[in-house]
Amino acid sequence: MMQTTLTLTRPDDWHIHLRDGDALRAIVGHTAKQFDRAVVMPNLKPPVTTVALAQAYRSRIELALRAANVPLGSFTPLMTLYLTDQTAPDEIIRAQESGIIIGLKLYPAGATTNSDAGVTDLLGKCAKVLEVMQRVGMPLLVHGEVTDPEVDVFDREALFIDRVMMPLRRAFPTLKVVFEHLTTKEGVDYVRDAEGPIAATITAQHLLYNRNEIFKGGLRPHFYCLPILKREVHRLALLEAATSQSPRFFLGSDSAPHIKGLKENACGCAGCYTAVHALELYATAFDRANKIEQLEAFASFRGPDFYGLPRNRGTVTLVREPYTVPLEVPYGDETLVPLAAGETLPWRMR
Ligand code: NCD
Ligand code: ZN
Repeated sequence: MMQTTLTLTRPDDWHIHLRDGDALRAIVGHTAKQFDRAVVMPNLKPPVTTVALAQAYRSRIELALRAANVPLGSFTPLMTLYLTDQTAPDEIIRAQESGIIIGLKLYPAGATTNSDAGVTDLLGKCAKVLEVMQRVGMPLLVHGEVTDPEVDVFDREALFIDRVMMPLRRAFPTLKVVFEHLTTKEGVDYVRDAEGPIAATITAQHLLYNRNEIFKGGLRPHFYCLPILKREVHRLALLEAATSQSPRFFLGSDSAPHIKGLKENACGCAGCYTAVHALELYATAFDRANKIEQLEAFASFRGPDFYGLPRNRGTVTLVREPYTVPLEVPYGDETLVPLAAGETLPWRMR
């Protein structure tokens, strides 16, 4: 008989962009409704580079949660710091002592949205910081793409493994590393088989679509994100990893809102908006692979297990009922076009 309801331990989103100001107020309720905790990315303008800035950002998130009528204590933002060439080793100690910082985010300079302040030479400029991180057990969350403009955009993740990830992990073998928004078979193979503490987040769009989606019938900017969608062979490898028994792959939506006009643009921004329907999207991907029973491990268990945090207590229930993705959602004075806008998905959150 076809399964019609699915009750999961309350899941977490291990990679989210919540933005700031009106944008934050417009969207934070979406993530808080679906998830118990979320790892909040620090690529604001200016970036969140210090514990003091992260504390202030966290307070703004809490105010926004209150304004969105999210019940007190039902959602916890897990804060990150933006690693730069100038990050001081002492900042890592402060981060550890603050109790609110879950990791440092590595953006190779120029890799993606608001990454100008990113790292130019990881082992050259950040060795002392990495040493302290390794010693105190502070994870490094990695945007894993080389930024060399000569390198084909579809090859940037695979090359990053050889050029940056392997040298990094040879130099710091016990540093906890999360390979964020993994998009390739090479990435899957590496993370699954590597020695030491490594894991990866996987987005819903990379489980559901390959790069053809960007060009189907014309140029479709709402399928453009970074790292960019890849070939079908990579999607299949990601789906296999996410639905496997490996403890190293877990949910990170990378939901990254950009106003409609900046997506539908001569130079459109990178990012898919998936926070309003993340679980519906992931359930669709798992269901199509006939692995819906693996969704709970991916969404609710492996993330906290890797980070050494408790699993959540409450539950959420998904029902097998058609859910039509809204064409637009309000975003301050603007709107967002969610991923798969107008499409009907087979599962909805109750
Ligand atoms: C993200 C954003 O807009 O902040 N965009 C994206 O395509 N994923 C940045 C990022 O995570 O790379
Ligand atoms: Zn991201």
